Amino acid sequence: MNYIALKKTEIMNKLKHFHSIQDINTYSMINGLLLKAIFFAKNQDQLPVYKDTTIAQLFMEPSTRTQLSFEIACQKLGINTVQLNSQQSSLKKDESFEDTLQTLEAMGISGAIIRSTDDLLIKRHLPNRKLSMINAGSGVSSHPSQAMLDLLTIYNHFNRIDNLKISIIGDVNHSRVANSNIELHKILNNTICICGPDAFTNKVDKNIKRVSLEDALKDSDIIIFLRIQFERHQNLEINKEEYIQNYSLNNHSILNLNKSAIILHPGPVNRDLEIASNLIGHSQVKILNQVTNSIPMRMAIIDHILGSQHARSTH
Ligand code: CP
Repeated sequence: MNYIALKKTEIMNKLKHFHSIQDINTYSMINGLLLKAIFFAKNQDQLPVYKDTTIAQLFMEPSTRTQLSFEIACQKLGINTVQLNSQQSSLKKDESFEDTLQTLEAMGISGAIIRSTDDLLIKRHLPNRKLSMINAGSGVSSHPSQAMLDLLTIYNHFNRIDNLKISIIGDVNHSRVANSNIELHKILNNTICICGPDAFTNKVDKNIKRVSLEDALKDSDIIIFLRIQFERHQNLEINKEEYIQNYSLNNHSILNLNKSAIILHPGPVNRDLEIASNLIGHSQVKILNQVTNSIPMRMAIIDHILGSQHARSTH
């Protein structure tokens, strides 16, 4: 299949923003985005080339993976990028976010890739927007592109995206990655379980099954270990020894790991806390595959949004 044929089969081609998994809330839409990412990963010689298109990156929280992979994704599609450093921009002079977006729009910028500590910043600014907004991580609420690149990693291993059991381990309360994965796998009708200390799981939907780490490792197809979000904890102390014993992938707990399962972690890993350092390179641990997959998936997201708006050619 070439890019033009792929476009003809594309069900979702009118996505203005990618703010949450709810923007792609059917199996067909999710599968359409996944197919495009697989196509981009395999057909580097058939990528669309965007002309005179600029995307701004507005990262108001630190990032390595998300920011660089969106940058590389834009470069591969021929899209120009500009970076708005929140500490050195006029946001620092109390310019509002709305005025900032309108300024970008007046410059002809087509999209903004936004990371914020504010759960609702993007949502509040969706109405009447000229440029497209792509969520690169919103507070504790959502990180939809991470869930989709996790899905590409899952597909590459299992060759399917349904009929799967996923367990999410650790700081679920404070994890936007967990929230987006839960939203995504509910749509796909996959089984979701969580595991973690009460202080990290007590705000999560009570209908989601709680399991022990032993059961999660024995019975799941995919086990997602989460980074402990220390920067979002207020008056919350954890006993690291107890955490390592009960909730980490370590030399003892890995003995329970189902031989056909895979381990994911969105990164960055708190080594020897969530996953023992010597297990990061274990054949069932797919953390660097997730990073590799982030580029075609983020290309697919950008192309899904801009594809309907911008003339372009293919190589
Ligand atoms: N997974 C993730 O969002 O990593 P970064 O914070 O490095 O972008």
